[in-house]
Amino acid sequence: MGLVRREQCPMSELRWIVMGTGLIADKVTPLLARAPGCRVVGVASRDLGRARAFADRHGLERACTYEELVGTGASTPENQGQRHRHADAVYCTLPNRHHPEWTRRLLDAGFHVLCEKPLCWRRADAERLFAEADRAGRLLVEGFMYLHHPQIDALTTVARDGDGLGVSPVGPIRRIEACFESDMKAVGREATRYSHDLAGGATLDLGCYPISFVRTVLGCELGDMKISGVVARPIEGERLGVDERIEIEGLASGVSFRLVFGIDRSGSRGVRLIGVHGTVSTEWPWSPDAERAELLVERSETHPRGAGRETIVIARGGDKFVQQFGAFAAAVRGGRAARPSASWSIGQAEAIERVLDAVGVDFGPGL
Ligand SMILES: NC(=O)c1ccc[n+]([C@@H]2O[C@H](COP(=O)([O-])OP(=O)(O)OC[C@H]3O[C@@H](n4cnc5c(N)ncnc54)[C@H](OP(=O)(O)O)[C@@H]3O)[C@@H](O)[C@H]2O)c1
Repeated sequence: MGLVRREQCPMSELRWIVMGTGLIADKVTPLLARAPGCRVVGVASRDLGRARAFADRHGLERACTYEELVGTGASTPENQGQRHRHADAVYCTLPNRHHPEWTRRLLDAGFHVLCEKPLCWRRADAERLFAEADRAGRLLVEGFMYLHHPQIDALTTVARDGDGLGVSPVGPIRRIEACFESDMKAVGREATRYSHDLAGGATLDLGCYPISFVRTVLGCELGDMKISGVVARPIEGERLGVDERIEIEGLASGVSFRLVFGIDRSGSRGVRLIGVHGTVSTEWPWSPDAERAELLVERSETHPRGAGRETIVIARGGDKFVQQFGAFAAAVRGGRAARPSASWSIGQAEAIERVLDAVGVDFGPGL
């Protein structure tokens, strides 16, 4: 699985269709339009009227339905020519449930695909999708925008410094804490976060960030984990509830970690790397500021310089979404490796699967 067989994109600009017209599509489309080497040419929706309204709002040329997008819908004078001949890539912002299946259909229709997190909740689905992307010669990337801000590289450098006060300002890291708690009861036009049918829940919506964080900064898979969770009552009209809150205590590469995520109430969104001589933390791991991101260093008394506080500033790190799309376009042109990689996303799906299994939530196969 890799970059080698991918068909490189001959044109200078990657032409995008945004799939879905919800919260993230509305917020991110202007950022996609700003990304180097990218142009947004259209939008797809379940409802053509909603697609047209979205296209008007964002100044896009084309509006179509999902079926028209993949070329199996009925052609009308209005939607003629809106198929993938006019676009190269799709940014998929559908609810989680639809990610694996629609990604497969989009790859099959010849698009490069950037699918919002989480791409999959089962390892087998992720393996199959990346194999299909390889076969089709198309790029498939899971959308984890915070991985495109230099803050994650700074935190990774701190986390992997095993030799004392080399690059880590607090000595070797022994423990990582990562949280993402947010009251999601009212978010999403159709309460997607509490819907089992749409594969909502704390792990797929928020927990995938802390899970991805530990895997990224340590550069390994999660080892032993003790996982506890709360499953919500089913929402009206559904039979099963989603995982609402999860706590994990684990060990990976000799570093202990604690992950907390929940969609039931707002709380911490921070990460803390705990070293032998202090901690490095931020309350903005998932949404670092484009102009000025800050990591707080708190030295303990055992630190050679004594107890104290200082700040590591990451100036003008840039917008994480703009950089995500720019990196995708560069990868399609063959100039850069995809971030995150296929193997990273397969490992991520496996980690999610382990967590969901442990709390007895089963969204079924995605493909
Ligand atoms: N990276 C980030 O920062 C970030 C932030 C938020 C969300 N996300 C991810 O982005 C995805 C969408 O989140 P969102 O907050 O934008 O959700 P949302 O507001 O519920 O929007 C999802 C869109 O998907 C389309 N859709 C297709 N089938 C649907 C169905 N059966 N029910 C509901 N909508 C359906 C709808 O557009 P049409 O009606 O036009 O078809 C809807 O507007 C999720 O996977 C989420 O994890 C990422």
